[in-house]
Amino acid sequence: MMGSDPASRVPCDAFDPKLLSAPIMINLELTSGCNMKCRHCYNFWRGEDAAPAAGLEPRDIDLLAEKILAEGVFHVVLTGGEPLLRFDTLVYALKRFTEAGLSTSVNSNLMLLTAGKAARLRDAGLDHVLTSLNSRHAETNDYMVNSKGALEKIKRGVKTARAADIRVSVNMIVSEPNKDHVYETGRLCAELGAQRLFATRLVPSVRVKDVRATDLRLEKRAAREVLAQILAVKRDFGIGVGTLISYPLCFLEDLELYEDFVGRGCPAQRGNRMCVGADGSARACTHEERSYGNVFTQGIGEVFQAMRAWRDGGYLHGECAGCAYLGVCASGCRSAAYAYFGELSGPDPLFEGVGGVRKPYKPVLPGAILRAIDAGERFVAPERIRFRQEDGFTTVNVRWANAFALDSGLAAFLREKQRTGESFCLADLRSNDPRRDLAILIFKDAVEPLDASLRASISGAVAKGCSLDPSLLPGLEIAEAP
Ligand SMILES: C[S@@+](CC[C@H](N)C(=O)[O-])C[C@H]1O[C@@H](n2cnc3c(N)ncnc32)[C@H](O)[C@@H]1O
Repeated sequence: MMGSDPASRVPCDAFDPKLLSAPIMINLELTSGCNMKCRHCYNFWRGEDAAPAAGLEPRDIDLLAEKILAEGVFHVVLTGGEPLLRFDTLVYALKRFTEAGLSTSVNSNLMLLTAGKAARLRDAGLDHVLTSLNSRHAETNDYMVNSKGALEKIKRGVKTARAADIRVSVNMIVSEPNKDHVYETGRLCAELGAQRLFATRLVPSVRVKDVRATDLRLEKRAAREVLAQILAVKRDFGIGVGTLISYPLCFLEDLELYEDFVGRGCPAQRGNRMCVGADGSARACTHEERSYGNVFTQGIGEVFQAMRAWRDGGYLHGECAGCAYLGVCASGCRSAAYAYFGELSGPDPLFEGVGGVRKPYKPVLPGAILRAIDAGERFVAPERIRFRQEDGFTTVNVRWANAFALDSGLAAFLREKQRTGESFCLADLRSNDPRRDLAILIFKDAVEPLDASLRASISGAVAKGCSLDPSLLPGLEIAEAP
């Protein structure tokens, strides 16, 4: 990970979360109201309030858009509660943020989606939805979400979104009731046209007193079986897989086998994400109850600084000290530690111990990239690349919430090429190790080959590199030709 001493920085690296001026992305809850009442929901307590559910109006979106733009946040996830309950605000927010150059996505159970609404959302700029589908078996799914008939409505919603050319990823929250359903649910996702299944382990809400007395848990043995099923989903149904709550890397052991589970890390500790409720209150982690300030009355950067305790390493689990993977793993999920052991710095319930990783994950750049660089191939800095000047370095966003730290000199070079639309080659780069830097920039999808056939030939590697946690970049191996 990048040190805070500027001289120790390499050109493309993980950012030191302590040095970030603002989050990379914001999870914005348009309403705290929901049409489901999931037994596991991290924010289920809001439904118990006597007060009516809070919700945002278009004028609130205007105010937030100004603040978000002023702080250089790159990506907004519109969530809830259920955002389709606030349809007009949702359409307004998608338009407003898209026109302002921000990328967006939506978290929705899709139960209220109609063809007409899908078309309006698509027109407003919606490209991707993360939906909640917990089991292919209606009885289990509907039990988990406390809503009879929910599975059929969700399936219809996914089909409606796909028919409107909106990409859909499925989030399946895995716990005791559905731990054996991952493979079959993956089959259903493929049949419905979803592009990816996240088998996300359940993180019990802070309101659950004794996790082990409930079925809101996933023990180690079951978690291993879940991983085996999800690998089979990828192999047999050809859809992408992953998890939205990271696993401790010592639990995964074989990081090559589980490469789809390496690198998401903890968004709160990495400074990637801020969660904003419909009343403006902000949390570092979706799962925590504490508010660090209000973005309607304070600056986003100011509230982000109030969350520093998450980013200064104080919540890392003590027994992880000395682990080579601490930068990317960050002790697994801190909210799971809290739910099981009452402390944010406790062990992740799946923690196995330092030295648990038997097979390391080594990101490798394909030889084709190097051959192209050496052959004097020309590259461009595409328009989608966004920049944010930090104190001593530049944050570069390649798409959605994928960002990494870049030496400001190199960033200025890319900015200029983006502005003029001029292509460039290796000889134009002025950095200590231009060949490696250019290779990394291509791998991270921050620059593209001008030649379309070359672009197509490296698309698989680049898709992986784009979302790879930047703290793994220093370990990147450059495979020589072939
Ligand atoms: C709170 S929901 C709001 C959006 C929408 N109503 C939906 O159901 O997708 C956002 C995401 O959080 C996930 N989620 C909720 N409770 C969770 C928990 N305890 N652990 C892990 N993920 C959870 C949901 O599955 C969903 O994908």
